[in-house]
Formats: sequence, C-alpha cells, structure tokens
Amino acid sequence: MTNKNNTGLFARKQINTDLFKKTGLEKSLSAFGLTMMGVGAVVGSGIFITPGIIAATKAGPGVTLSFLLAAVVCALAALCYSEFSSTIPLAGSAYTYIYAVFGELLAWVLGWALISEYLFAVSSVAVAWSAYFQNLLAGFGLKLPEFLQASFGTVGAPHAGINLIAIIVTLLVSYFLTKGVRESARVNNIMVIIKIAVILLFVLAAVRFVKPANYNPFLPFGGLGVLSGAAVAFYAYIGFDAVSAASEEVKNPKRDMPIGIVSSLIISSILYIGLATVLVGVVNYKHLNVADPVAMALALTHQNWLAGIVSLGAVVGMTTVLLVMSYGGTRLIFAISRDGLLPKSLHKLNPKTHVPVANTWIFGVVGAIFAGLIPLDKIAELVNIGTLFAFSLVSIGVVFLRQDPEFKDLPRAFEVPFYPVLPIISFICCVGLMLLLRPITWGAFLLWQIVGLLIYGFYGYRNSKLRTK
Ligand code: ALA
Repeated sequence: MTNKNNTGLFARKQINTDLFKKTGLEKSLSAFGLTMMGVGAVVGSGIFITPGIIAATKAGPGVTLSFLLAAVVCALAALCYSEFSSTIPLAGSAYTYIYAVFGELLAWVLGWALISEYLFAVSSVAVAWSAYFQNLLAGFGLKLPEFLQASFGTVGAPHAGINLIAIIVTLLVSYFLTKGVRESARVNNIMVIIKIAVILLFVLAAVRFVKPANYNPFLPFGGLGVLSGAAVAFYAYIGFDAVSAASEEVKNPKRDMPIGIVSSLIISSILYIGLATVLVGVVNYKHLNVADPVAMALALTHQNWLAGIVSLGAVVGMTTVLLVMSYGGTRLIFAISRDGLLPKSLHKLNPKTHVPVANTWIFGVVGAIFAGLIPLDKIAELVNIGTLFAFSLVSIGVVFLRQDPEFKDLPRAFEVPFYPVLPIISFICCVGLMLLLRPITWGAFLLWQIVGLLIYGFYGYRNSKLRTK
C-alpha cells in the first residue's frame, strides 16, 4: 500500500486493486453458507434477553414493532456494507473502507468505535450466557453465592457484586482462540439449527398460554417508546456485518452477497418478532425486566422441563456469538496495529498457531472486566452506539465512494439501489437511533472516543505506517 497524501490527519490509504485478484482465498461460499454464517453471528443474547428489557422499560407489547423497525434500519445499512465489501474486498471491513475513502483520522475513530462494538458485544453476551447457565445450574439445585451471581447494580439483585460466570466464560473463549480454535462451517450450522429449533420450541410451547389482555394497552409508552425500543432492539441484529467481511470468499458475490445478508436479516427478524409477540402475550410486560425472560415465561406456564432445554439451547447459541465477536474484535485490532496505529505486539503472531496471542488475551481480559462489573442493559446500549456510529459512516461513505475519482469506476459486484437516496436514508436512520439512546450511553461513548483520540495523539499519529514510510 502506498499513499498519495501522507502527511496530514486525513492521509488516505491507497488501495492496490491488484490485491483483489490474488487474495488466495477459496471462493467456496454460497448464499446458503452466507445465510447460516449471518444467523450464527446475529442470533444470540439479543433474542433471549432484550425483548424482556425493551418491553418492560421502553415499548410495552409494542416491542414487536421495535424489532421490526430495527430490522429495517439494519437492512438499509447492510446494503451499504455490501457495496463497500464488493468494491474494496479486503480484510479490516469498515475500518479499511473508511481509511481509503475518508482518511486516517476518521478511520481511527471508526476503528475505535468498532472495537467498542466487538468488546462490549462479547461482554454483554457473556452476561447473558451467565444468566442462562446459572438457570441450568439451578435446575440441578446448584447456586452461587448471591454476591457472585451478577454485577453490582443489576436490577432485582440487591446483593450482587461481580458476575463470576461471565468473567470465566469470556476468558475461556480467549483461551480457545489462542489455541487457534475457530468453529468450522459445519459446527456453526449445527449450532444455528439448535438455536432456531429452541426458539421455535419456545414459541410453540408458550403460544397456548398467551392472554390477549396482556396486549392491552399495546403502546403504553407511546410511539416514542417504540422508537427508543428499536434503538435497543438493534443490538439483537448486530453481527450481520460479519457476512459482508466474507466477500472475498463468495462464489458469486453480486448475487449471493445481498441474498445472504438480507435472508439472514429476514430469518432473524421472523424469529425475533415471533418470540417477542408470544413473550409479551404470556407475561405482562411490566414483569419482564429480568435477565432470562424466556425461562421466566416457561416457569410461569409450569413448563420447567422445557426451560432447561431452552436454557441449554440459549447457552449453545450464545457461544457461537462469543466466538465470532471475539474473533472479529481481535482481528480488527490486528489490522489497526498492522497499520501502526496501535502497538506492534498486537499484531505479533504465534509462529505455530498463527494467532495474535497478546492481542487475544488483552481483548479477553478487558472484556471479562466489563462483563464482570457492568449490568447487561448498560453494556448493550454501548454496543449499539458504537455500531450505529460505524453504520452511519459506512452509509454516508457509499455516497463518497461513488463520487471519488479513485473508486467510482472500479467494478463492483453489488450496487446499492436507489442511490443516493437509500444511503442517505440509512445514514439518517442510524443517526436517529443513536440520538434515542440514553445520555449516559452518549457520555460513555464520548469518554471512549476521548480515550481513543488520546491514544491516537500520543501513539498512532506518530507511528502510523502510512505517514512514517
Ligand atoms: N446480535 C448479537 C446477539 O444478539 C450481539 O447476541
């Protein structure tokens, strides 16, 4: 890679288009494979936890509309991702795209936001994993002391202190990743089928206990409640960007990429909306502010035997998300460090396993600290703000990508339809959802970005490969 304007904060990474032709990766993925990959990365704690929190605190039974709206925003952003990934099909995903189109400073800000997406996604899924795992243990009469069950500040747990299981599972995932373990497509497919089966099982088992009275009032917090619910429901769809990162390995990206992305979103939305509808029909929304609402609904309907199966399925399903998001986060840090914006040790590979070991452990330890100490609802919003920020940049980036003399004539396998209206609407929707997140989330995100800018100022700016070459 060379650069044409390598002195300023806006130095742009020049993309050597020859690289696209010789990536060496086998083009073996079909639309079906992409869809399974998408559902594997997307469906995790979001479905097993957030419908309850959103119903209780934001949207009431209108939680179903929140999920629908979040799906639409994701679909718009997904189309923009598809155009980028088919024009610049290189590793590093959104961070690399923005480096090429908007230059280094914005790429850093975006990369740092994406690190928060992956890191907090892992922490929050670990908290959810812990809740469902403890449910399973409770089935065998085993219980941790209350202080170790959840983190301080968790709703309904006045004596909680730290979330021990969430810490352990995050560190275990890092351990497996340092050993070079990555799930194979086959294992992923099996886990995805288990997830879907468990969700359908819940819906079928609980639907007969739906009380129509629970849908009334449908929108106790009004339309704004549905909108702010969508800003949280967005969390449940995060992960489909993993599909766009695989563009180099797709047989027929022009056809398969949009099909893969859109069908994983459609499958996830059907599952989410189906589950949320039944959940708020069985349990009154006011009682749903708990970490394991699905298990709660089953206990209420005296189907505890099923609660065990659903908890087991949830734990299996969330494990895939933990692995994919930890893997994604460490590889993003790897790409940023390779560009000189983070210390070299973060892209040092173990010669045997080819894994960035230091990077993986640091990611795991920081993720474990957040998972152990912060309650789920707060972490989930942090994931969303970082991701929405990234999606908004990618959406508006498409407009610039089409205008840029360097990129506008590059052949693309996929083009966003209704250009420039669709990317602009996508940008507005992402920013709109960000604005609906709580002030405390904004505060935490700004703090995160200030820390990032300090790191950039003291380290990245001076060591950037682009500028010091
Ligand atoms: N979408 C991911 C999940 O719901 C973060 O677990």
